[in-house]
Amino acid sequence: MRVPPASISFSNEDISNITEEISECLRTGALTLGQNGRQFEEEFAALCRVPYAVAVNSGTSALEIILRAIGVQNREVIVPTNTFFATAAAVIHAGGRVRFADCEPGSFALDLGSLRECLNANTAAIIVVHIGGLITPRISEISDVCKQVGVPLIEDAAHAQGSTLGGRPAGSFGVAAAFSFYPTKVMTSCEGGMITTSDEAIYHEALIYRDQGKEGFTTNYHVRLGYNWRMSEPHAIIGRAQLRRLPEFIQRRRRIADVYDRRLSGRREGVRPLTVPRGVRSNYYKYIALLDPAIDRAALKTALRDKFDVGLSGEVYETPCHLQPVFRGYPAGRLLQAERICAEHICLPISARMESEDAEYVVDSLDHAVELMQTANAAVGD
Ligand SMILES: Cc1ncc(COP(=O)(O)O)c(C=O)c1O
Repeated sequence: MRVPPASISFSNEDISNITEEISECLRTGALTLGQNGRQFEEEFAALCRVPYAVAVNSGTSALEIILRAIGVQNREVIVPTNTFFATAAAVIHAGGRVRFADCEPGSFALDLGSLRECLNANTAAIIVVHIGGLITPRISEISDVCKQVGVPLIEDAAHAQGSTLGGRPAGSFGVAAAFSFYPTKVMTSCEGGMITTSDEAIYHEALIYRDQGKEGFTTNYHVRLGYNWRMSEPHAIIGRAQLRRLPEFIQRRRRIADVYDRRLSGRREGVRPLTVPRGVRSNYYKYIALLDPAIDRAALKTALRDKFDVGLSGEVYETPCHLQPVFRGYPAGRLLQAERICAEHICLPISARMESEDAEYVVDSLDHAVELMQTANAAVGD
């Protein structure tokens, strides 16, 4: 594909360093919960400017561990409906009930008014999701609400490695945050996740939950209903190599976003950029563009793929959680802002491997594809 929706970046130098380090770890037999995992945790905690980080085997397990450490059993957790399945599923796996809240169009994240409406005496926690790498500028207000009612705020920071708001990094706003290192993310460990926290008690609980609920690494004395949520040493080695590249990855993504911004801003119809709120530095996990409701998104994606060899990346998100069949047991009524957000955006291709010319080609292709669709529609209407 001339411009794929996303692309992973491992330089030859990184590949040879990773291979050498993994060989060493195979030779020594230190394959899990070892020195690389600990170093990855330290380095990631430093990125997020928090004292503690716990490496785990996925972003999903990071979320579930945090929820179990906080304790949400038989209580409600407020989840913005515009998120990935795993945010809500983790709540249910941790024994809680999901209360879906609406989202706001400026950042695609949890809507403060809807959050206030969802709060009740049975609320155990609130999750914010940094959609596409954007931290909602309302997060301090959300955090104030949480403090007023004494409910912990959790960040689902799966998308937001290296994103900041007012210079403060994702992963440092709530009592704890969950990151994902799935291959499509801005940095990857193949599979993997990380919990960050400033709360010593949550940190200790997370260490226990991650390793089968054992009281300590060398004991077989189980004090929590944990699971095997450990990160292996080879995964930690890959994650560390990517973390070293994170500033460069983000800079390269920003360069692509700048091209899209320049070409799309000022437009009043068709495809327009989602303006990044003031003070936010996105890592550009996604480049979100707003789409006129008159344009058929599926048809546009097909035209871009088939006629121009351009792959749009997955939406964030296409179907809000409250409309997913699996969450039918958690009725939320209509959450109209989120439904609209989900229906009326696209995500342009972005990666650390793209060049500015690729981004120019994407916008040219987008314009041609929209034009072709409008001409075809006009012909049908004649
Ligand atoms: C918002 C969000 N939360 C959680 C997850 C789960 O992360 P993982 O796939 O590493 O389990 C993802 C993964 O894509 C995500 O996008």
